[in-house]
Amino acid sequence: MSGAAPRSTTASGAVPASRRGSRMFPDGTGPSPDPAGSHFERRIRSFQPRRSRVTTGQADALRRLWPLWGLDIDGRRVLDLDEMFGGLPVVLEIGFGMGEATARMAAADPSTGILAVDVHTPGQGNLLGLAERDGLTNVRVANGDAIILLREMLPPAALAGVRVYFPDPWPKKRHHKRRLIQPEFLSLVATRMKPGAVLHCATDWEPYAEQMLEVLTAHPGFVNTVPDGGYAPRPDFRPLTRFEGQGLEKGHVVHDLLFARA
Ligand SMILES: C[S@@+](CC[C@H](N)C(=O)[O-])C[C@H]1O[C@@H](n2cnc3c(N)ncnc32)[C@H](O)[C@@H]1O
Repeated sequence: MSGAAPRSTTASGAVPASRRGSRMFPDGTGPSPDPAGSHFERRIRSFQPRRSRVTTGQADALRRLWPLWGLDIDGRRVLDLDEMFGGLPVVLEIGFGMGEATARMAAADPSTGILAVDVHTPGQGNLLGLAERDGLTNVRVANGDAIILLREMLPPAALAGVRVYFPDPWPKKRHHKRRLIQPEFLSLVATRMKPGAVLHCATDWEPYAEQMLEVLTAHPGFVNTVPDGGYAPRPDFRPLTRFEGQGLEKGHVVHDLLFARA
């Protein structure tokens, strides 16, 4: 992604505090609606800001648990993942939606930390609530644009894996530029992955699956874990996700792609 400079910045290049959104709760807690002041960065985004209702349960989870397990993507500091996850290997999940699959994977593998990122506030509350309900200690919820997280807040070779499950397909041709899985994104994500770490993508949108396979196969930073190339069998560890279920109901075929960092 081209990291164009913010339109209005301080001398250090940061967006002034007054332009960053206020937080969710009046006492200044909870996720920020615009943690990086990202209105001021000219870049095509892979998500559409959504105004969706937060339920009472989700708001309660956000209020109580955000200070413990939440993280605003403000682009202003580099994270210490060892400190955040007590030394566990850390996998980044981009676009966790409502977080049900994330919580299930975290429960199934407590020896891996999951840094789960999305812009969707109800989903953030939902995932925090699931983490508490299931006693999960290996999930952290990041609020904001995964590109800024990768570019500004993660050090090189920090990640033991990256998961992108059912990214927005942006089916209209004029929107294809919004798709996340593109050569520029792959070049960025590759720098943040450890050698051998796996980027796992899944989609039910056939033309996007084809695009993913093409750009991943062509990218020098990745090697297909499937020896003869092509799509991978669905790994047992990936639970059915909410979007996947909706796709399957429409008769869509799901493809998994597992590529290792070269
Ligand atoms: C189609 S949904 C899939 C959600 C979930 N993985 C599932 O399968 O049910 C894609 C999600 O990715 C999120 N998303 C898209 N681009 C993102 C970005 N750059 N940073 C963070 N989240 C993003 C959207 O907000 C949305 O919740």
